[in-house]
Amino acid sequence: MHKWFVYKEFDQAAKAAADFMAGIIEGSLQEKDICHIALPGGNTPKSCLTYLADKKLPWDKVHWYLGDERCFPKGHPERNDVMLEKYLWSKISDTHVYRIPAEKGAEAAATAYRDVVSEFDCFDLVFLGLGEDGHTASLFPDNAALADTRSVIPIYHSPKPPSERVSLSVATLKSALNRVVLVNGNEKAAVIAQIKKNEPLPINCVGDIFWYADEAAVSLAI
Ligand code: 6PG
Repeated sequence: MHKWFVYKEFDQAAKAAADFMAGIIEGSLQEKDICHIALPGGNTPKSCLTYLADKKLPWDKVHWYLGDERCFPKGHPERNDVMLEKYLWSKISDTHVYRIPAEKGAEAAATAYRDVVSEFDCFDLVFLGLGEDGHTASLFPDNAALADTRSVIPIYHSPKPPSERVSLSVATLKSALNRVVLVNGNEKAAVIAQIKKNEPLPINCVGDIFWYADEAAVSLAI
């Protein structure tokens, strides 16, 4: 079952999501000495990541991964790892970051990243974004990648540029111990209404989600 946490203002939702994810990290590290977390791309997570960076956590025990990456050259301003470096990793110490080598091209990068994620059983947390078409990570509606059961998959014909990407698969996202999605604004209200009606969108295929949203994003949901 999805769990929804709705706040009047987006900033409140971003702060609450950061608090919740900090709690997941602390809880994981009471059980074991390392925590594996996959992070989103896009614009929505930026302020939440900065709130998370302000937390006092044993960052040296957290290993960071990406939910997906765009096939651009290293350092390209539209790469997800460039955004994550700016809003999170540059603000915390002792980072263990495992970037997707998307500069190698979708197939080679997915193959390489499968070896990286095979080093552990499952993610403790995947923090995901949501597109207006119901995509998450780089898992887009009606794309053949949705049926690919490998852990990390190449993405072709993405409707959101660039057309070539790399993504954790539905199976990998589903196997995570926790999934968090942060959404904001009226532009996501239509897809949220579809999600609440259990429509068969990629985001509805990855398992139970802790949703953090502002009121605008849930304004059309019954
Ligand atoms: C990407 C992301 C993608 C993103 C959603 C939402 O590469 O763009 O992985 O899944 O999270 O498209 O993007 P916004 O947060 O910018 O709305």
